[in-house]
Amino acid sequence: MKKQVLLTGGAGYIGSHTAVSLIESGYQVVILDNLCNSDKRVIDQIKKITHHEVVFQEGDVRDRNLLSSLFKKFSFEAVLHFAGLKSVDESIKEPLQYYENNVCGTVTLLEVMTQFKVKRFVFSSSATVYGESEKQPVHEQTPLKPMNPYGKSKYFVEEILRDLTHADTDFSVAILRYFNPVGAHTSGLMGENPKGEPSNLMPYIAQVASGVRKNLKIFGDDYPTEDGTGVRDYIHIMDLAEGHVAALNYIWSHKGVHVWNLGTGKGHSVLEVVKAFEKASGHQIPYEICDRRPGDVAICYADASKANRELNWQAKRGLKDMCVDAWRWEVNRSVQNGQKDVQH
Ligand code: NAD
Ligand code: UFG
Repeated sequence: MKKQVLLTGGAGYIGSHTAVSLIESGYQVVILDNLCNSDKRVIDQIKKITHHEVVFQEGDVRDRNLLSSLFKKFSFEAVLHFAGLKSVDESIKEPLQYYENNVCGTVTLLEVMTQFKVKRFVFSSSATVYGESEKQPVHEQTPLKPMNPYGKSKYFVEEILRDLTHADTDFSVAILRYFNPVGAHTSGLMGENPKGEPSNLMPYIAQVASGVRKNLKIFGDDYPTEDGTGVRDYIHIMDLAEGHVAALNYIWSHKGVHVWNLGTGKGHSVLEVVKAFEKASGHQIPYEICDRRPGDVAICYADASKANRELNWQAKRGLKDMCVDAWRWEVNRSVQNGQKDVQH
């Protein structure tokens, strides 16, 4: 019998790629997603890539009755909780929406899990919880200083998980602090598909390369970095997906709460990413230098040695792979979305 796992938000960018890695590692995957930021077509792409069935339930993680019926129907042995809202800007304008979805949604889910005695939990946290840290790279013990409601919602859930595992020692929890996930599955069938104008760097560059957008705005070239542009730890989405499998396998036999940074340990500047993408796509990326984006930090990259040591996991793919795979997906995505005037 295959181990059944529930993926909330599994139709989203990170959840869908993780679904592929989990299925390929022998898990049976059930996806619950309200599709507020994703497209149902991704479920067929997961099936196409893995040649396996995927159960999909459309619905909200805050819907207690729906959760109960799912937990009655399946024998889940673990939950990977991706469902949540993720825009920093939006969270500043709509804080209650973020706390309601990200914090209350998680609490409802944990209550139903407790009721059904399902006590393995993998949580999508973020490097945002570190805020502006003077020391780089950041490691798991670096003090947490989230700077906006989105980051705080992740921090609050981390605290709730610490309290819960303290009160109920049967729980095993993985808190995964993602750095900057980019790229796509190498098949080109699946990748990031932001609704409207992308706010993140790599999808924006990809859309400039494909002609969907005119030029990239670089938010500041006066940071204390080598070329003045912001430095981040970009991690290939499939490395991140494999990190989830490693973390899940670990908590299968280790109780308590465990925190891991999932990053490459290497920082790249905005201009470095632009150059790498130009090379991968064969297209020039016109850009203009603009003011700094409020809330941005100069540099953020991971000390990922704990995950390497404890999970025997390490990111294997470099910036070139991230750009090549993101470009392959962008070509397919723009055709899929009806932007057929794109020049490849
Ligand atoms: P995404 O928006 O692509 O995926 C999230 C999915 O959750 C979407 O499919 C959305 O429809 C669904 N969802 C949202 N609220 C829901 C609800 N109440 N009930 C059911 N489904 C709901 O985002 P992603 O990039 O795949 O991120 C996944 C998780 O990782 C999020 O929790 C996000 O905060 C976190 N994270 C993302 C990044 C990043 O850069 N992408 C970085 C750090 C952490
Ligand atoms: N940038 C630009 N132009 C753009 C978009 C981004 O110059 O159009 C720059 C930013 O200023 C920053 C870098 O590119 O220096 C990366 O920006 P992203 O928006 O791609 O990523 P962030 O590091 O700001 O944040 C992302 C997610 C957060 C997550 C964080 C850490 O958006 O949700 O990574 O995991 F929490």
